Amino acid sequence: MSATIEITRIEKSKIASVDFNNLPFGSVFSDHMLTCTYKNGKWESPVIVPYAPIALDPSAKIFHYGQSIFEGMKAYKDAKGNTLLFRPLENCKRLNKSAERLVIPQIPEDVFMQGLKELLKVDDAWIPTNEGSSLYIRPFMFASGNGFHASPADEYKLMICTAPSGAYFAGKVNVLIEEKYARAANGGVGFAKAGGNYAAQFYPTQLAIEKGYNQVIWTDDNTHEYIEEAGAMNIFVRINDTLLTSPTNDRILDGITRKSILQLAEDLDIAVEVRKISVAEVVIAAQSGTLKEMFGTGTAAVISPITGFGFQEKDYELPTLEMPFASILKKAITDIQTNKSEDLHGWRVQL
Ligand code: PLP
Ligand code: COI
Repeated sequence: MSATIEITRIEKSKIASVDFNNLPFGSVFSDHMLTCTYKNGKWESPVIVPYAPIALDPSAKIFHYGQSIFEGMKAYKDAKGNTLLFRPLENCKRLNKSAERLVIPQIPEDVFMQGLKELLKVDDAWIPTNEGSSLYIRPFMFASGNGFHASPADEYKLMICTAPSGAYFAGKVNVLIEEKYARAANGGVGFAKAGGNYAAQFYPTQLAIEKGYNQVIWTDDNTHEYIEEAGAMNIFVRINDTLLTSPTNDRILDGITRKSILQLAEDLDIAVEVRKISVAEVVIAAQSGTLKEMFGTGTAAVISPITGFGFQEKDYELPTLEMPFASILKKAITDIQTNKSEDLHGWRVQL
């Protein structure tokens, strides 16, 4: 199916006011946004309009029952000026997986991809060209239908907004391994990119920030003995020369960066084990000096090295290595994303 996308262009672009050399993460928005409405049992044709506030009825179910999901992706420019996306269909598939769990209608992949590509063409000038920056893309879906009845809405919106962005973490990433609160539970929505998962993390994360950490590493909700993921990233731990990461499950987001890093590690002959990682073994490894690295992976975070962690009122520092796996893998993935190396796995999509 090929949808007709009506485009209303902004009268005067605000791009001249943006300092592309000092981009924050996700807080400067491009000129246009895409909206697609689900009504009377079907998706209407998407429209692209100037970025602006939207009107919703106060009884819209998003406000009351939190039917809301989102995705995070990035567009890059290569040296020749081509626009590139990284595994975009994976994001669309995950959006639909989240949608199913939150009883939001499935968005056809071709409508999503066509709309996204069209939006990127309209706001082509907003895709940063400087190293380390990219256009962060935020597709999201929510219940726009009305009513206080606690049941799924009958109207929804898919929207896509974009924001030229620099690094997600400004400085050191110092984490607290959580032993009281849980991000997600078995049978819950942890695997979905549901807005509520993030809202639920804010309070424990705020407590961790007050103690001097800037991220929480979530442990399993049942025993708090195993490391799962961080608030916006999957987690890798390097003990000696082996990289470890937790298997995904009901509670963990199946990160696209995570699975790409697993493949790249294999390509680079880095030993990897996907298995449960106990907090105890990480603490013992830190004490004995065999814990070499910890890092988070995610679209926004790319690969963010963790400099230290806290657990049960004690702090542990990670060593500084000359050639950490985090740097090797970050170069490997960003080179593919920006067309500086061969795309052996067919991950890049050129517009
Ligand atoms: N885990 C959580 C909770 C996230 O929000 C993200 C970010 O999207 C990730 C992991 C990493 O996922 P991805 O690599 O697909 O961006
Ligand atoms: C992403 O990495 O795209 C995310 O969605 C994480 C978000 C919380 C910034």
